[in-house]
Amino acid sequence: MAKKLYIETVGCQMNVLDSELVVGSLRRHGYQLIHDPMEADVILFNTCSVRQHAEDKIYSALGKLRGHKQRHPSKIVGVLGCMAQKDQELVRRRAPHVDIVCGTGQLARLHELIEEVERTGKPQLALSLDRKGASRPEVERSFESYDPLRDPSMRPSRFQAYVRIMIGCDKFCTYCIVPQVRGPEQSRHPEQIAAEVRQLADEGCKEVTLLGQTVNSYKYDLGDGRRCHLSDLLARIYDTAGVERIKFITNFPRDMSDDLLDAVRELPKVSPYLHVPAQSGCNDVLKRMKRVYTVEYYREMLARCRERVPGVSVSSDFIVGFCGETEESFQRTCDLVASAGFKNSYIFKYSPRPGTKGDELFADDISEEVKKRRNNDLLAIQNKVSLADHQKRVGETVEVLVEGPSKTALKQHQASGPIQLTGRTPTDHIVVFEGNERLAGRTVQVAIEEATAFTLFGTVVTRESIGVAMPRGPVPEPPHERTSGETHRISLPLLMA
Ligand code: 5AD
Ligand code: SF4
Repeated sequence: MAKKLYIETVGCQMNVLDSELVVGSLRRHGYQLIHDPMEADVILFNTCSVRQHAEDKIYSALGKLRGHKQRHPSKIVGVLGCMAQKDQELVRRRAPHVDIVCGTGQLARLHELIEEVERTGKPQLALSLDRKGASRPEVERSFESYDPLRDPSMRPSRFQAYVRIMIGCDKFCTYCIVPQVRGPEQSRHPEQIAAEVRQLADEGCKEVTLLGQTVNSYKYDLGDGRRCHLSDLLARIYDTAGVERIKFITNFPRDMSDDLLDAVRELPKVSPYLHVPAQSGCNDVLKRMKRVYTVEYYREMLARCRERVPGVSVSSDFIVGFCGETEESFQRTCDLVASAGFKNSYIFKYSPRPGTKGDELFADDISEEVKKRRNNDLLAIQNKVSLADHQKRVGETVEVLVEGPSKTALKQHQASGPIQLTGRTPTDHIVVFEGNERLAGRTVQVAIEEATAFTLFGTVVTRESIGVAMPRGPVPEPPHERTSGETHRISLPLLMA
């Protein structure tokens, strides 16, 4: 009988992709993915360490499993990903019933580790080297890019896929744990990436999103003196038949080169959408964050993006309450958000991460209450800007790649007829409209009639649609997709409060 596998995923798109690949690989070893953790033979958590909150959730979910594991000792519990790499023994100390601790760079060994636990009954640790503890080539080798065969059935949607183009990060922003848990920056060979995109397209994938912590820093030395940059890679995969849209996330402001912006402008399949986190609007704070740019530089970069890519939409990330952020510093961030015209911003309260320079050098001196207030205030400003950005589009007809039923439609379980669908424009705007479910995966034209800060509403105008104007359904929930750091749940029960 097939062994049953259950997995929960927290964190960024990299983790969502890793989980897809882990599940695909274990399925090839005969596992069946199920949605009830209590029925599973192997229970996995793919974890995130970017903020404390994400780790707390995992410890709480692990706590809920303690009794279950005692009653069924042959069941295997595994902690994968960033928290596994970062906390290693601590995970086993706090949750001794965990059998496997497997870091981000060791996922290829997961099946072997499961077999080892079955054979010996002993816990298994598979971790990459500490960045400070060995030479760069040694550390690089210990962080293996995990890119096994793709399994289309494991993706949230058959016609959309993430493709990793690099792993790791070398920026060492002082607040961030990613360079430790994902290792040194290493770009994949462009031909390997092109082959993966080709395979995805052959399987019916229409939209690929290229992933990297600093995706625009992508560079691969071809060995003959030539270097492949992201702009070259975009051109390389551009002609892949079947691929209609190419996106890439997340960008680092200092690496937003003109050749990349020109490629985005010149290659119509490449979405004119750039996620470029600013993190703060105050130079003192940016300096303490070691972001290596000033707010003036960021604004100029933004102007350059808009000049070189007309119509481009830009989104950002901000951290509020970073060490030493005064009211005046925060005000500067508010000014940036009020004037930059971001499509949207993801706003986070600073969470000190042991092992980072920020935690070592600066006191976490902003109270939780102040962080919360600044978070709300900044969100309110961004929401106004988002609403204005969305309202500008009312009256336009936009191209939408249909993703499927909206969250509201999913809750309603309607048996037949038009339902509320959702999709995105090339500029990454979320559009909700009525249509038949079979439009999923198709590109349709939608006339925008209404807007909120999160969503555009409209009516399909293309011929293949059954686009009849419908009374507006309940307003869908705000977007749940996050570029990084939020909870993505492949399954739900254990992580639910
Ligand atoms: N505390 C709060 N937010 C953080 N981020 C990264 N590290 C931290 C931290 N220690 C945010 C940044 C980054 C996003 C993925 O998460 O804004 O862009
Ligand atoms: Fe790297 Fe982004 Fe973290 Fe900075 S915030 S260290 S660029 S992953």
